[in-house]
Amino acid sequence: MSDKDSTLAQFDQAGAQRLEKIYLTPDVVQQREQIFQLLHVKPGMQALDIGCGPGFTSLALALAVGDKGRVDAIDIAPPMLQLAARRCEDAKQLSFHQADVLHMPFADGVFDIALATQVYEYVADLDAAFTELARVMKSGAQVLLVDTDWESCVWACRDETRMRRVMQGWSQHIPHPQLPRSLVQRLQRAGFAEVQVNTIPLINLRFSPDTFSGGMMGFIASFVAGLPDYGTQLVADWQADVSSMEEASGYFFSLNRYVFTAYKP
Ligand SMILES: C[S@@+](CC[C@H](N)C(=O)[O-])C[C@H]1O[C@@H](n2cnc3c(N)ncnc32)[C@H](O)[C@@H]1O
Repeated sequence: MSDKDSTLAQFDQAGAQRLEKIYLTPDVVQQREQIFQLLHVKPGMQALDIGCGPGFTSLALALAVGDKGRVDAIDIAPPMLQLAARRCEDAKQLSFHQADVLHMPFADGVFDIALATQVYEYVADLDAAFTELARVMKSGAQVLLVDTDWESCVWACRDETRMRRVMQGWSQHIPHPQLPRSLVQRLQRAGFAEVQVNTIPLINLRFSPDTFSGGMMGFIASFVAGLPDYGTQLVADWQADVSSMEEASGYFFSLNRYVFTAYKP
């Protein structure tokens, strides 16, 4: 399966709805607010939301640029665009486009600001993707990218060997599961300057479906159970182990989001 087909399979209607639910949990809402503090978006700007997903970031951008600004949002997955369009139907300054980050339907140098949260780790040809990003940005424009290194995940369990095996399986859901390690150099290579990195940790100290880790557990389980040599029993045992940690030494989940900001000279 190509990377693009794998992405489309993960974000079919059920996958898109599952992600929307996770992104409504209080810890992800708080994370979005923290990310926006690093984005220098102002009224009247032309903004770009790359891989907009269910449209939470598109709506926030639309509110920030106001009536005199404009937001274009792209995503490759039609079910995501449907959720986003519904969420943002009142925002007249916002347009959605089904498009790949490798071929964005915009002229050169049109955007003042761009945001891509949890998107580029799904894209195999990153050099081409960042060249395309640089193409559509104005001189002086800010870009903000958020990506995860799944090796930064600390998740308490009884059976560490099984946990490592599940996370190894999960790392196959994207072509770049450790993208943050190389992102500074990749952005510089595409011509971006003043690259800065911040981390935003997501921490859960109790198990609940209404948290990032509680929601992600189902996402990870359904992906890993479909891999050759895994199967549903191993994944069910892993879920039972992790979700009952409160009864053992305590539930603990932590994952770093890495936030990169850079400018087009
Ligand atoms: C994990 S979701 C994040 C959604 C959104 N950025 C957010 O943070 O709420 C990743 C999104 O990137 C989109 N995506 C992945 N590869 C893409 C590509 N090559 N071009 C455009 N969108 C892509 C997916 O369809 C999905 O909606």
